[in-house]
Amino acid sequence: MSRDYIVHNDESEVGDIVWWKESVVYQIYPSSFKDSDGDGYGDLQGIYEKLDYLENLGVDVIWLCPIYDSPGHDNGYDIRDYYGILRKYGTMEDFDRLLAEAHKRGLKIMMDLVLNHTSDEHAWFAESRSSKMNPKRDYYIWRSGKNGQVPNNWESYFGGSVWKHDPETNEYYLHLYSEQQPDLNWNNAQMAEEMYEMVHWWLEKGVDGFRFDAVAHIAKAEGLPSAHNPHNLPVVPAYQLFSNLEQVHSILKKLNNMILKPYGPMTVGETSGLGPEQALAYVGTDRDELNMVFQFEHMFIDAKSSGIGKWNYKEWKLTDLKEIMSRWQTVLHGRGWNANYMGNHDQPRPVSRFGDDGKYRVRSAQMLATWMLTLEGTPYIYQGEEIGMTNVAFPDIEQYRDIETKNYYNHYIGQGKSKHEVMQAIWLKSRDNARTPMQWDETEHAGFTQGQPWIQVNDNYLEINVADAESDPQSILHYYRKLIALRKQHKVLIYGAYELLLPDDPDIYAYTRTLEDEQMLVILNFRGHEPEMHWPEGWTSEHAKLIISNVSRRYSTDEGAIQFQPYEARVYRKQR
Ligand code: GLC
Repeated sequence: MSRDYIVHNDESEVGDIVWWKESVVYQIYPSSFKDSDGDGYGDLQGIYEKLDYLENLGVDVIWLCPIYDSPGHDNGYDIRDYYGILRKYGTMEDFDRLLAEAHKRGLKIMMDLVLNHTSDEHAWFAESRSSKMNPKRDYYIWRSGKNGQVPNNWESYFGGSVWKHDPETNEYYLHLYSEQQPDLNWNNAQMAEEMYEMVHWWLEKGVDGFRFDAVAHIAKAEGLPSAHNPHNLPVVPAYQLFSNLEQVHSILKKLNNMILKPYGPMTVGETSGLGPEQALAYVGTDRDELNMVFQFEHMFIDAKSSGIGKWNYKEWKLTDLKEIMSRWQTVLHGRGWNANYMGNHDQPRPVSRFGDDGKYRVRSAQMLATWMLTLEGTPYIYQGEEIGMTNVAFPDIEQYRDIETKNYYNHYIGQGKSKHEVMQAIWLKSRDNARTPMQWDETEHAGFTQGQPWIQVNDNYLEINVADAESDPQSILHYYRKLIALRKQHKVLIYGAYELLLPDDPDIYAYTRTLEDEQMLVILNFRGHEPEMHWPEGWTSEHAKLIISNVSRRYSTDEGAIQFQPYEARVYRKQR
């Protein structure tokens, strides 16, 4: 069964093939997707075995989180060899076979590429650290200390200083993430060349796209100045000194023009710390850089501050969420393109975060899916979202695997915070919430592995799993299939202009999508109670055809106003 891509030429991009705008992406976290050989880790053969599942879901592109050779301190985001496959995931032959089979089925594969740093076990770093005179010394960022102290006061994303002292040469190297992830120096032209060549190598292999990890940070402020530090803390967040700087754009332009363009891959950059106006510098149709970026504004909606501040929980407001998403929808319309997501391998599970993972789990997960699949931009579904997988709350830190979570725990316990308080934050925000194994069926370890899983399965797998969802026509999974098909059927859901309705309503998120004379109305109840909404101007119950909803009804009672069920979602099409 093979599917041809629908190619749509929109007027602003005459002649351009924009398959990536019409695609739905499915993100796979390889360690936790499907283990085929019983070693407790997911692998490429496991993904191969699930291609039918992905094809039936209706997605077009598979984004593979890093599968390269890596010591695994940050689960593959610490790459030891960009040209090799991690042994426990398989071999390069396995990868080639997966790619060929995916292509045969009309599925594309997008790689996750880390350009900001390598593993400290990468051959370059071994050379770099060996001596100040080594030709690869300058591939990384080395500085001497200042009066026996670190070179500046920047705080790492994973806690502590970004600097690590290396006794070998008595200098410090910079790492924005863990100390096993030294940052590359993009001022070094030779290193840049080697990277471009590597990207080219993967394109020649036939991969269809890239997610560029942490790409906003590949350039650092000249001179690496310390950040403003009124309270004289040992380290402070310094995001503005290493995020979205002008040099990032010149690097991406070069990468695109020299390497990417002839192949036309789909590209998405991970760019924290910007709003839509700044995002246009990456994705503006006149910019020649990336197709899309992952923005983070909505991911910090329940935090007291961004970055490492994510651990300090704050109640989030629907009005804020609407404001953020609407700004991105309208600013990028006709000028760039959005990448829409509500969860990924770094974020809590959306149904636990934005919905209700108790009584209304199914309904609220469907409501959230309706939201993601009816916005302008390319939708990204993270594994498990399609069955409504939830956060975990492991009682003990020993059960967690994520380096960020462990560092956070050690740091705050060290500072005297109570275990209870620290675990509460971990249950809400740990990245491991999204990394527990995919729940396939009711058998041991949820059918993920025959062995011992590298991280414990969420024990709600008896109730939440793919096999059950397949056999229940009302399941979240079936609803996703319908939504994906609907999106492909109605161009207005892909390209239509977005307009927010009721910006101040605290419970309902409603918007229209309009393309020429076609119009859709999307209404989402984000609450467990039953609010009511008047038909928006220009809409009446007679002229509105319900094309999908997560609540089935025999008759309509909505003449005067729309009466919502808890977490109800509806999409109407205007009848002429
Ligand atoms: C990105 C990845 C995350 C990783 C970090 C460092 O944010 O999504 O998982 O830890 O970059 O590579």
